[in-house]
Amino acid sequence: MSFSAPQAIIRGRFLDIQSLVNQADQIAEHVRYLEDGVMLIEQGKIVAFDHWENLKDHLPAHVEITHYHEQLIIPGMIDTHIHYPQTEMVGAYGEQLLSWLNTYTFPTELQFKDAAYAKEIAEFFLDELLKNGTTTALVFCTVHPESVDALFEAAQARQMRVVAGKVLMDRHAPDGLCDTAERAYNESKALIEKWHGKGRALYAITPRFAPTSTPEQLARAGQLKQEFPDVYVHTHLSENKDEIAWVKDLFPEQTGYLDVYQHYGLTGKRSVFAHCVHLEEHEWDCMHQTDSAIAFCPTSNLFLGSGLFPLKKTWDKQVKVGLGTDIGAGTSFSLLQTVNEAYKVQQLQGDKLSAYESFYHATLGGAKALDLDDKLGNFALGKEADFVVLDLKATALQALRQSRAKSLEDALFALFTMGDDRNVESTYVYGQKVYQKAASN
Ligand code: GUN
Ligand code: ZN
Repeated sequence: MSFSAPQAIIRGRFLDIQSLVNQADQIAEHVRYLEDGVMLIEQGKIVAFDHWENLKDHLPAHVEITHYHEQLIIPGMIDTHIHYPQTEMVGAYGEQLLSWLNTYTFPTELQFKDAAYAKEIAEFFLDELLKNGTTTALVFCTVHPESVDALFEAAQARQMRVVAGKVLMDRHAPDGLCDTAERAYNESKALIEKWHGKGRALYAITPRFAPTSTPEQLARAGQLKQEFPDVYVHTHLSENKDEIAWVKDLFPEQTGYLDVYQHYGLTGKRSVFAHCVHLEEHEWDCMHQTDSAIAFCPTSNLFLGSGLFPLKKTWDKQVKVGLGTDIGAGTSFSLLQTVNEAYKVQQLQGDKLSAYESFYHATLGGAKALDLDDKLGNFALGKEADFVVLDLKATALQALRQSRAKSLEDALFALFTMGDDRNVESTYVYGQKVYQKAASN
């Protein structure tokens, strides 16, 4: 065994989940905790990972070892649904989905026709993700191709694995936010050719939701998916009851909301549907049969009063699920805060969400939802070295609570209940430190 030229050596307490599971109660047996572990990174990838005792005599002498003594190192967290142009409008008062879109969202998104504005917000947005320990996200841009270029350029500068795309809308939105079926196709195609697979960038065909696309536009989106089968599809589904009734009005020939997307060839292994709060039984079956994924967005579902997502059903029906912050209907960039609210959403339905299950969804499960579990989600050899160094005692109250923790699972649960960006000490992307929390005074 020899590691002649690692880019970095990280020593500390590591926690990850080693394999995918079919049921929540199997997760605990796949949790891997190394009290004193070491990770070697070469060209952005994990080339060795083991107990310090096992590797310490095989390390090259000339590479400095970064040793985190008390912190907990976890895989970079994965946000499976977020809108970067909505960064500035978190906390917009008083509306539910459809009036919230018209009152706040559309005016905000109109600003992104200005490339300089898009660049400024894209950079702020990605830095905010990193500050919160999120290293990969599936992201809505706006209808403007400039907004997509701005995000991918900023992601490239940080070497982040980001999946994103131009929004498609050709009705029920302001003129300045509408394209046409033809323009949606042409602009998306050009962006796919420019960005998909370039470095760590991946493209998502992004119809906003069924009500803002004509049947012609959805057909063009389906055509693109056929022509570029390994790009993603990213949209919203069954978030709000008025929205669902509207879709049934607009598409009377389809049997339901998901059937609209299915009809136009937009379901599948790389399709991610945000929300899915009110799916009907046959829609759950269709999600399973097509291997489509759900982005569960608890802070958004509570903030907009959309409803309570039945997370347990994803296990019953074997449907892939990840966590989404859904900024700016969601209220926090932090996936720690997101699982805190996810727990309460399950409590209100009489279900439990364990710390390990939350951890699974935030890491390996999220990677699976994005069909990236061969590259991300844990510390398996060969995976991309995106990880987060967490301080579990970022406040006096947290320090007291952690000092009384009865087990690792209890410590993790307390972190998830009380934690946020204050707990993120540093974030690494592709083996490189890209965020360091300022020392507190
Ligand atoms: N449905 C259609 N567009 C949106 C959006 O921007 N946010 C949310 N939460 N739901 C939507
Ligand atoms: Zn959304």
